[in-house]
Amino acid sequence: MKEKIESLKVLYREKIGNATLLKDLEDLKIRILGKKGELTELAREMRNLAAEEKPVIGQALNEAREFFTEILEEKFRILSAKAKEEKLKSETIDVTIPGDPVEMGSLHPVTATMDMIKEIFLDMGFDIADGPEVEYVKYNFDGLNFSGSHPSRNETDTFYITENVLLRTQTSPVQVRYMLEHKPPFRMISPGRVYRPDYDISHTPMFHQTEGLVVGDNISFADFKGILMHFAEKVFGKGSVRFRPHFFPFTEPSAEMDIECAICHGKGCRVCKGSGWLEILGCGMVHPNVLEYAGIDSAKYTGFAFGMGMERIAMLQHGIDDLRAFFENDVRFLRQFK
Ligand code: DAH
Repeated sequence: MKEKIESLKVLYREKIGNATLLKDLEDLKIRILGKKGELTELAREMRNLAAEEKPVIGQALNEAREFFTEILEEKFRILSAKAKEEKLKSETIDVTIPGDPVEMGSLHPVTATMDMIKEIFLDMGFDIADGPEVEYVKYNFDGLNFSGSHPSRNETDTFYITENVLLRTQTSPVQVRYMLEHKPPFRMISPGRVYRPDYDISHTPMFHQTEGLVVGDNISFADFKGILMHFAEKVFGKGSVRFRPHFFPFTEPSAEMDIECAICHGKGCRVCKGSGWLEILGCGMVHPNVLEYAGIDSAKYTGFAFGMGMERIAMLQHGIDDLRAFFENDVRFLRQFK
């Protein structure tokens, strides 16, 4: 029996010494110390021993159990430390590998143009006013001196919601709202969305305008020429401008302002259709009826107003020839404005 114990010790000490995997060590532990392990089996054979042999063999078995427990534990420590080290090695992160590039978005070109225009007028002391896109007929047409039979009122030109409510066709109704709420003198611009039932290369059912309004004592045509020329120079650079007589119900006299074609500098090209001029806005002296409708004494105050399409300005700035491109959200188009 004693020899058997000794040979178990020799055999398994070597096996434990040679083990390289935690799993193999686990198996060895079961084979030696487990319920059906070899040492446990030997202990079972104790009952066949003579009474005087029992204490001696019992002690030897206990010693063997302690011996194996100790060397198994020791080896377990070594192998777990090794396993941990290998795991750490295999899981290291190479911080020097370049990361995936993060793509930055950018402002929509119409937003960028609108921001730029706001900036120019803010610098000249203008207030920025807001108005609803779902608007009353009275502010979109009546208060702006549109006759009852004016063609713009037709359903073919305006999106009606009810008889009295529509999607505003212009930012001009903000003029009426602003005058009802403020006492002159004041100067404001009002950028925003407007709606008309059109769709072709130069029209989309929704587009953006910026309205402008200045009211005070002795406001003259000369004031507004000065302000609009300064504005045109800021946006398109130095160049000639001209005012052509025009008609709007809410201004008298009315005009359209052209700038020298920024592409050909007046020589005539495809963009200016050979004329050398580009129309950029409508304007005029505020009609007395419009002042009176909003409760402003037209004998005391005068004013001027202007309105322009944001997409049109952006198209001229960037040389874009199809307005619809702004609203198709093709990233290949939008990416160019970073
Ligand atoms: N509301 C006009 C339009 O939609 C633009 C405009 C022209 C506004 C002249 C004005 C103005 O304030 O004075 O075509």
